[in-house]
Amino acid sequence: MSDNLTREDEMLEWGKHYVMVRPDHFRIDYVINPFMDRRDQPDPQRAHDQFGALVAAIEEAGGRVEVIAQRPDSPDMVYAMNLGLVTVDAQARSQVVLSHMRHPERRQEVVTTHPWFEDRGARSVWVGRDGVGAHFEAGDAFAWGDALVVGYGPRTEELGLKLLAVELGVRVRGVRIAHPGMYHLDLAFCPLDERRAMVCPSAFDEASAAALLALVPEPLVLSEAEAMTFCANSIVIGRTVLMPACPDRVRERLEAWGFEIVLVEVSEFHKGGGSIRCLTNPVDITIGRDLPAVLVPEVVLP
Ligand code: ARG
Repeated sequence: MSDNLTREDEMLEWGKHYVMVRPDHFRIDYVINPFMDRRDQPDPQRAHDQFGALVAAIEEAGGRVEVIAQRPDSPDMVYAMNLGLVTVDAQARSQVVLSHMRHPERRQEVVTTHPWFEDRGARSVWVGRDGVGAHFEAGDAFAWGDALVVGYGPRTEELGLKLLAVELGVRVRGVRIAHPGMYHLDLAFCPLDERRAMVCPSAFDEASAAALLALVPEPLVLSEAEAMTFCANSIVIGRTVLMPACPDRVRERLEAWGFEIVLVEVSEFHKGGGSIRCLTNPVDITIGRDLPAVLVPEVVLP
C-alpha cells in the first residue's frame, strides 16, 4: 500500500450534490434489519439537530444539498440513499432508477420521490414496482472503475442487476452480500478516490469478497468490528471524508493518504440501521465520466 497522497486528478468527481430527507417523522415502527428495536426510539429533536449538522458539514466541505420533506407514513424515508439511483448522461439528462424496496414497509416512499425527481427533469426507470419485478435498493449501487458495482442478496435481487445494466447501458459487477448486519453495499464499501476504497470483506461471500478486492488497486481493508462502527458509511467530497466514526487504524491510513476526516455524529440514525451515506443520495454520478457507457451491457458475477 503506497503512502502517496490522493492526487487531484484522481479524486472522485461525483459526490458534490446530494438529496436528503428531513427527519420530520423518523421513528422505529418495524424491524427490517438487526439494528432496529422498537424499544429504542430516536429523539426527534436530537435527530433534527444531527441532520442539520450533517447538512452544514456537507456545505462546509463544498457540497450542495437539496432537502425533501418526509412522508408521515414512511419512517425510514430519512435514509435517502435508498430512494433511487440517479445518474446523469452525456447529454446532461438525468435519470433515476427508483428503488423497489425488498420490504413492503418502505415501498410508499416512491410515491413521493418519483414525482419529485421527475419535477427536476429526471427520466424514471423502474426495475420493479409494488412488489412486481426485481427488488433494487440504491444503497447497493456504486460507480466504481469500469462498472456499476452492485451488492445483492439481502435487499437487491440478482435479476435487478440485469435490468440495471440494460436500462443504463453500463457494465454491472455484482457482489453477493452474506452478512445480516451489512445488508446494503454502502455499509461495507466506500470509494475514496479513483484507486482507493474502504472494503469490508466479511460482508460478502468468499468469491465476491475476492472479486471486490481485486477491483480496488489500493483497498483499505476493514475488519467486521471496524465496519460495524458504520465507518464505511461515510461520504467523500474531494479530499474531505465525512464520517460517523473513525477507528484509529482507519484514521491513520486515511490521513497518510492525505484525506481530511470530519466526524459528524448521527447516532440517532444508527437506531434505524443507517449512517451518513444512508442519509445522503448523490445526484451527480455522470455516465461517461464516473461510469463508462458500454455498447453491450453486461452483468459480471464472481
Ligand atoms: N432502516 C433502513 C432499512 O433497513 C435503513 C437503511 C439504511 N440505508 C442504507 N443506505 N444502508 O432499510
